[in-house]
Amino acid sequence: EDPALVEEFERRVAADEFIEPKDWMPEAYRKTLVRQISQHAHSEIVGMLPEGNWITRAPSLRRKAILLAKVQDEAGHGLYLYCAAETLGTSREEMVEALHSGKAKYSTIFNYPTLTWADIAAIGWLVDGAAIMNQVPLQRTSYGPYARAMVRVCKEESFHQRQGYEAMIALANGTGEQRRMAQDALNRWWWPSLMMFGPPDDKSPNTERSMRWRIKRETNDELRQKFVDITVPQAEFLGLTVPDSDLAWNEEKGGYDFGEIDWEEFYAVVRGEGPVAKERMKARRDAWEKNAWVREAADAHAARKRAAKVA
Ligand code: ACO
Repeated sequence: EDPALVEEFERRVAADEFIEPKDWMPEAYRKTLVRQISQHAHSEIVGMLPEGNWITRAPSLRRKAILLAKVQDEAGHGLYLYCAAETLGTSREEMVEALHSGKAKYSTIFNYPTLTWADIAAIGWLVDGAAIMNQVPLQRTSYGPYARAMVRVCKEESFHQRQGYEAMIALANGTGEQRRMAQDALNRWWWPSLMMFGPPDDKSPNTERSMRWRIKRETNDELRQKFVDITVPQAEFLGLTVPDSDLAWNEEKGGYDFGEIDWEEFYAVVRGEGPVAKERMKARRDAWEKNAWVREAADAHAARKRAAKVA
């Protein structure tokens, strides 16, 4: 790579300029972005499954309408993100193939099952809460199309978080059984939510370079700490207990100290050994194969329109 081009690129990034699709960029920058954006897109799409599972069983029409809208939003987020990745010269087919063959990752969080309605509330509150924490800084990521996609995604995600917390408030103020469900959901989703931020900074192979290139604006540990600091008081307001006996306010650092994450579990889930990983991948592959006729029909329709224009 031409050192003058590299230098100019580094200067622009350091000056907080956006890099656009037609600008020169180092191959490693392009590859990192394709990896992160496509994995982010896959997470949105696979993330529709645990919640989609509860659409037919939502406890009221209001909750059903909200959940339907939310799951549709996730599909939209996946689509913006695939488009952002396509501007880097990769095709939708290549990305989908990478997911289906197990080459591309998606967030560990979506490999856990949704056992009760309270899980839907907890996902909105914790999982979407963690997602916003990670995505708000990405509105200033150095690649223009990714940053712009994040603006709309964050607006919708913040609605998702609020509806989840509101559903959690209803359960926490409900019957004894509802409170127990809410606590059980918090117990099961707390640690996996902390894992969403990725490995600790000193074990994260990509963080240092991605921070220098301003792809990432905050590190995994910084975001995880912020999430804990914001979420613990919310749990207290609900009258629920965060399942961490080491959790304690640290006056000096102005944040909470918290217990050690089970990193073995994290890496096992990353390797595809999560509790419902096989079901998730099967659902995605089946959807792709069974709906091939939709893609074929859309292609045929587009071809006919083109032919009509020529005639
Ligand atoms: N689940 C699955 N894989 C993960 C996770 C996780 N929670 N955290 C880290 N990894 C993977 C990384 O993808 C990387 O693997 P790869 O090099 O094969 O891609 C490896 O573990 C090492 O991690 P890092 O060096 O820390 O990787 P990176 O710098 O990409 O940071 C992070 C990971 C924070 C997830 C980053 O990619 C990111 O911010 N992505 C955008 C947000 C996103 O994808 N959110 C998805 C969940 S939120 C939602 O969809 C609702």
